[in-house]
Amino acid sequence: MMDIRGQTHPFLHAPDKRMLIGGDWVDALSGRRFETRNPADGSLLARVPEGDQHDVDRAVRAARAAFEGPWRRFRPDERQAVMLKFADLLDAHWDELAWLDTLDMGAPIRHTRGSRRHLVGLMRFFAGQATALYGQTASTSMNGDMFAATLKEPVGVVASIIPWNGPLWAMVFKTAPVLATGCTLVLKPAEDAPLTPLRVAELALEAGVPPGVINVLTGFGRTAGAALAAHPDVDKVSFTGSVATGQDIVRASAGNLKKVSLELGGKSPHILFDDADIGQAAAAAAYGVFANAGQICTAGTRVYVQRAIHDEVVERMADIATSLRVGPGCDPDSDIGPLVSARQMERVLGYVDSALEQGARLTCGGHRYQDPERDKGHFVAPTIFTDVRDDMRIACEEIFGPVASVMPFDTLDEVVGRANDSPFGLGAGVWTRDLGRAHALARRLHAGSVWINCYNQMDPSMPFGGVKLSGYGRESGVQQLDEYLHVKGVWIQHD
Ligand code: NAI
Ligand code: MG
Repeated sequence: MMDIRGQTHPFLHAPDKRMLIGGDWVDALSGRRFETRNPADGSLLARVPEGDQHDVDRAVRAARAAFEGPWRRFRPDERQAVMLKFADLLDAHWDELAWLDTLDMGAPIRHTRGSRRHLVGLMRFFAGQATALYGQTASTSMNGDMFAATLKEPVGVVASIIPWNGPLWAMVFKTAPVLATGCTLVLKPAEDAPLTPLRVAELALEAGVPPGVINVLTGFGRTAGAALAAHPDVDKVSFTGSVATGQDIVRASAGNLKKVSLELGGKSPHILFDDADIGQAAAAAAYGVFANAGQICTAGTRVYVQRAIHDEVVERMADIATSLRVGPGCDPDSDIGPLVSARQMERVLGYVDSALEQGARLTCGGHRYQDPERDKGHFVAPTIFTDVRDDMRIACEEIFGPVASVMPFDTLDEVVGRANDSPFGLGAGVWTRDLGRAHALARRLHAGSVWINCYNQMDPSMPFGGVKLSGYGRESGVQQLDEYLHVKGVWIQHD
């Protein structure tokens, strides 16, 4: 097993990285680069090209050429074979990729390693789908002598713009459906964590993905990202990130009416009834908000606890929060790493201040770490607030840090109303042993995923996404394929 503490990661032996356009590793046309750093200690990891609109033009041209050219001639079974090879390479290099994520965005190595089975499995699941894309034949109920059928065709050039909270995760989620459906991709990593996507793209080439099918363009959001979202020759944008940027992307898509799918933020409710297994439920509520230092779109930040068990749940969650080991991601004993940047840390601490000003009670955490070991990194202690009102900022806005609001409730109708009274609708968790209540909540909660007696469960065969301001479109599951396909109607008169 790789352990890079005290050594350099093999990918960083040459710290000046290039980006991938049309199968070539290139610099930005401007020649400019920007730095990416390790959020645990501020150390410089690498410099990557600062691509801008001119680089976007060449990357989109390369993706278009590959789409019209060699990739179009790949039969589905050939795409499948390449994807299976890609999955094997991801599997074989998982440790190395996990380390790169850990160094670049801070998550504990235990966390980044942990998604191996799911993500390698997801690539294999979509490899299977490559040979299982079906159209339909229609009854043509009002037209005799007619054969009418639907064909599914790839939408074309896809632009993916991804965030920093799980680059390896996002790379697998964004490349798998592109390859399965025969589209091509220009992917822009987040400026805070561009390294893993470059390495994954290298593995894709090694697996036999033809040049130009996967392009990775590093650069900033307001330049490279905006140019991609507005580009007239991009057919679809798949975006994961903040609501405000998602809205910008929808506006930018209007020029050529590109298809858009959006996986945005959340303020997910996690509802604990008093008939639940309290130990399991409280642990799930704690990990549901503290995992990845809260930098997860489905973080269950609004914890609603039925009044009879409220105090006990708070106590158990606080025990977990204070026993979690906060430290650098490269320490195998760390449970929680730093936040990705100083900006994110300031933002999260700003929410802590707002909660105190608005009268919430701090049960634990609420501070940055100030010790010699950790004062160079952006470490924030796992934080729990009680006495939180639904209208406080910490209970309404996405924090993206390890901050939980625990609030008591009395009845089912009351908690459904409060849980749904949010502009977001990504995930929702429920703990109860009452089957009727579980089914009622599965239907009544406004969310893309409802987890009952579990939380943050994922599987390649299940769709993932949101409603309301959490976005539209689905990732994972067979449902995702249609986001990358057009349906064409074909009519043949046979007399
Ligand atoms: P962001 O949404 O601005 O960044 C995500 C990606 O979009 C990055 O690759 C960025 O370069 C790109 N981007 C930025 N502006 C763009 C534009 N105008 N056009 C096209 N692409 C653009 O998110 P940011 O600033 O990194 O984080 C701020 C907050 O957003 C977080 O605190 C969190 O609340 C939320 N967020 C939610 C995520 C999720 O998984 N739902 C992931 C990341 C952030
Ligand atoms: Mg970084």
